[in-house]
Amino acid sequence: MQEATGSIDAVQKILAGQGYVCGRALGTVVFLALRLGRPLFLEGEAGTGKTEIAKALAAGLGRRLIRLQCYEGLDVSSAVYEWNFAAQMIAIRTAEAVGAEDRAALRAELFREEYLIARPLLEALRPQPGGAPVLLIDEIDRTDEPFEAFLLEALSDFQVTIPELGPQRAQTPPIVVLTSNRTREVHDALKRRCLYHWVDYPDAARELRILRARCPEAAEALSREVVAFVQRLRTEDLFKRPGVAETLDWAKCLLALDVVALSPEVIADTLGALLKYQDDIQRLQGSEARRILDDLRAETAP
Ligand SMILES: Nc1ncnc2c1ncn2[C@@H]1O[C@H](COP(=O)(O)OP(=O)(O)O)[C@@H](O)[C@H]1O
Ligand SMILES: [Mg+2]
Repeated sequence: MQEATGSIDAVQKILAGQGYVCGRALGTVVFLALRLGRPLFLEGEAGTGKTEIAKALAAGLGRRLIRLQCYEGLDVSSAVYEWNFAAQMIAIRTAEAVGAEDRAALRAELFREEYLIARPLLEALRPQPGGAPVLLIDEIDRTDEPFEAFLLEALSDFQVTIPELGPQRAQTPPIVVLTSNRTREVHDALKRRCLYHWVDYPDAARELRILRARCPEAAEALSREVVAFVQRLRTEDLFKRPGVAETLDWAKCLLALDVVALSPEVIADTLGALLKYQDDIQRLQGSEARRILDDLRAETAP
């Protein structure tokens, strides 16, 4: 890892190798997170490439990706570990059947590794082939504060405690990436533990590079139009602006329909790839799409 991620350029290159277009600011914070061994906290609108960074990093470094998808009500038994209750019951029954008397021995027997089911957080503390894994804690804003507090502790010393087994500590800390779509503010204390980066929508030039990387089949002229249109759409007053994911989806839809250039009709027919709220779609379906398209063509006309 030392040489592979020894500079910001090198980190950008690793990500580029996975088709991930990474600007200097993001490259810097990823480099620093790796160098300093600090968790990386990525916040931004949905579909801006946060989750993908962790995937690209893991693939580029040849590390295992361990993902903890957060949701409301996520608890320790889903995030860290759980005892295999069914297997324990069978062991108890078996012990009863053979007439085992020693209760202390049975108890010790039941709370061994063998009966432990490791969930993502515990798994990430264990040695993995290829080196410490990339632990992706995705959409942390969906969990609640008690879980955040728990995470804060787990991430400060890369250790969790299982009462029956004692503290479980990572020999080599995992590379941790946390993401948030900012549906609520994540607590300061957790953010302070991490290096923070706001992942913004890319500018037109970068979005075009992303499109080229992820959808190379699209002709250059169409790609440029798609990007220009989406960029303009993001400046409109929409309930939910399209992310990069939507740009890519839209381009793929247009390709599937053999579209070579945008037209108001094609846009109206494929808006569902870009906009996911009926109010937004309705706004764009009428003359609005034509107006935007005319504007763009006027701008790019020689
Ligand atoms: N900089 C980028 N380079 C390459 N692909 C990107 C980039 N940003 C976004 N994408 C693509 O956009 C899609 C959405 O990205 P994702 O990471 O799921 O978004 P988020 O987690 O921010 O909601 C993915 O298919 C990803 O490949
Ligand atoms: Mg995501």
